[in-house]
Amino acid sequence: MNPCNLNQLGIDRDTPWAVGHFNIHNQEFIRAVVKAAEKERSPAILAVGMMSIKYMGLEPLITSCQVISKETEVPVAIHLDHARDLEIVEQALDLGINSVMFDGSALSYEENVTKTTKVVQMAHERGATAEGEIGIVPHGTDQVKDSDMTDPARAVEFAERTGVDFLAVSLGSVHGMKSAEASLNQDLLKTLHQQIPVPLVLHGASGVVDDHIAAAVANGIRKINVNTGLKVVLKNDLTRCFRDSPDSDLLQDFEGGMEAITTEVASKMRLFGSSGKG
Ligand code: 13P
Repeated sequence: MNPCNLNQLGIDRDTPWAVGHFNIHNQEFIRAVVKAAEKERSPAILAVGMMSIKYMGLEPLITSCQVISKETEVPVAIHLDHARDLEIVEQALDLGINSVMFDGSALSYEENVTKTTKVVQMAHERGATAEGEIGIVPHGTDQVKDSDMTDPARAVEFAERTGVDFLAVSLGSVHGMKSAEASLNQDLLKTLHQQIPVPLVLHGASGVVDDHIAAAVANGIRKINVNTGLKVVLKNDLTRCFRDSPDSDLLQDFEGGMEAITTEVASKMRLFGSSGKG
């Protein structure tokens, strides 16, 4: 059954748990995430983002995810993260990716609707799922403004007009934070969950404190995107290793780094409630 699309991971808008989306950048990351999924008996999403495509190439990444996910019994989906043009969506779908996210959050509302609708159509024609975004989750040092947060009426209309399977919303998180300090607007999330018929997605989860992640799952988030926090864990582990064991074999160093990622991913799966659901 692997790899599968997001609807085949066992989640829907009413399950009381969320699935983790973990950005992968090379085979080490892919193996480390799949190992955590096996340990936790949890479904998992291997996410391919634009920076990683620039770094490793689209086909090598998707192919590696396909080969490694076929080796495991727990449900694993391969998902394109933050596509901003239709060409990359088409290329990823042609390579057999199971799910695509179109990020039209920087476009006008109408342009976001038009392009996301097209992406949904392209994905569904190939049995893939599609995620859209409404509201703005800023990057780096940018602060979330009230006007960035998702407007419930707009989001309901957006979900209906585009037909997305999953919808990313803005609740107070920021992409790329290296430590967890942000909280989320849980009242807004409850309203969105009540009104929107599809599962909701939280981006920028590395920067959100654990209590707010757990509350977000209770209040309706069903997919949680983690990227920066895993890179931080790997970099810290390798830095310590290179400093303390300069003569060790490099592959041993990488093995230790993968183990550190696996431990971090497994703890996220427990926090999201997906352990034992795979
Ligand atoms: P972080 O890098 O902040 O964890 O965000 C990940 C993300 O939202 C990927 O889509």
